[in-house]
Amino acid sequence: MSVIISPSLLSADFLNLGKEIELVNKSKADWFHLDVMDGIFVPNISYGLPIISQIKKKAEKPLDVHLMIVQPEHYIEQFYKAGADILTVHLEACIHLHRTLQCIKSFGMKAGVALNPHTAINNLEDIITDIDLVLVMSVNPGFGGQTFIETSLNKVRKLKKLIQESESKALIEVDGGVNTETGRSLTEAGADALVAGSFVFNSPDPLKTISDLKELK
Ligand code: DX5
Ligand code: ZN
Repeated sequence: MSVIISPSLLSADFLNLGKEIELVNKSKADWFHLDVMDGIFVPNISYGLPIISQIKKKAEKPLDVHLMIVQPEHYIEQFYKAGADILTVHLEACIHLHRTLQCIKSFGMKAGVALNPHTAINNLEDIITDIDLVLVMSVNPGFGGQTFIETSLNKVRKLKKLIQESESKALIEVDGGVNTETGRSLTEAGADALVAGSFVFNSPDPLKTISDLKELK
C-alpha cells in the first residue's frame, strides 16, 4: 500500500480556504488533516466545529480530525455531525480512553489515539486492538513549522512491532516536521500515513510537494 498523505490545513491560507480545499481535492493527497486546539491542552487556539462543517461541504476526501483538547469525550457527537471521518484524541487527555474510543466508533468514525513525544508506546499495549489509527507526534503539538524530533523514528519502529505482534489493524500516522527527507525515514520505519502542513502549504508548488510525498512509498 502506498503512503497516505494528509495535508494539515493549519498552514493553509485561511483567507482563501476554499481554494486551498480545491487544491487538496485535485492533489494526490488522501485525507484532510484538521487540527483543533483549545488553548488548554496545547498553548495555542486554532479553529473548531463551524469551520470544519464548512470544510466538509467542499472536501472530497475524508476528514482526519486531530483533537488537541482536554475532555474530548464531551465533543464526539458534535465532531461527527461536523463531518469527521477519523477522530483522533490524545491519550494524555483521556482518563477513560477505552470508553472514548468505543464512543467514537459507535458513530461509525475511525478512532485514533495521538501520543505526545514524551508518551511511550507501551502505554498502548492493552488498547492497541481497539485503535484504528495511532498518531505519533514528532513535535510537541500546538504549532506548525517545528523541527522533527528524531527519536520519533524509533517510536514508529516500536509501534510497528507492537501492532504486528498483537495483530492489530491500526495504521501509523506521523505528525510534525514532515518533509521528503523525514518522510522517507518514517516510511522506512513503518509509517502508513504522513501529515504535512508547512512543508506543503509554504512550498512554491503544493501540488508537486504532495506528489513528491506520495511517491515516498
Ligand atoms: C501540530 C499539528 C500539526 C501541524 C503540523 O500541533 O498537530 O498537524 O499542522 O505542521 P508541520 O507539518 O508544519 O510540522
Ligand atoms: Zn495534527
